Amino acid sequence: MSAWRFSRYFLGSAPSITEARRFVAALLRDWPTADEAELIVSELATNAIRHSASGRFGGRFLVSVQAHTDRLWLGVLDEGGPSSPRVFRPCPEGEGGRGLLLVASLAIDWGVWGDEHGRTVWAVLNAGSQAASCI
Ligand SMILES: Nc1ncnc2c1ncn2[C@@H]1O[C@H](COP(=O)(O)OP(=O)(O)OP(=O)(O)O)[C@@H](O)[C@H]1O
Ligand SMILES: [Mg+2]
Repeated sequence: MSAWRFSRYFLGSAPSITEARRFVAALLRDWPTADEAELIVSELATNAIRHSASGRFGGRFLVSVQAHTDRLWLGVLDEGGPSSPRVFRPCPEGEGGRGLLLVASLAIDWGVWGDEHGRTVWAVLNAGSQAASCI
């Protein structure tokens, strides 16, 4: 299959998390790692709304899905802000701080581009890999 890429903007509010999941599910209907891709985009979209300027009134974020023969690239571009994505150390009693850990456990690589004016949090999935059984 040849490479392709689709991107779509979503409003920076909670209902967009489900819409972003549906966008990814529709694009990846026949891909073995569609569930992992949905989960990753859901976590990154949630973070964009909760932790970046995308969550302000009128804010938005951009979800991109790029497919190659054996790899999927997923990216969520937000509208920046003072906070930066960072992985917390696992803490059994703690609440929160698990989204990026989950992304890191599912993806073969992930990272962040950008600055306070806008950040892309991206993740790469092996297009044929099995889902991680737990985190
Ligand atoms: N897009 C983002 N922009 C700015 N800061 C971010 C972004 N994504 C994550 N962060 C920062 O990284 C931290 C860790 O993110 P993570 O998703 O792991 O945890 P959380 O969102 O705090 O909690 P949880 O995802 O478990 O509900 C966040 O608390 C936030 O400070
Ligand atoms: Mg989170």
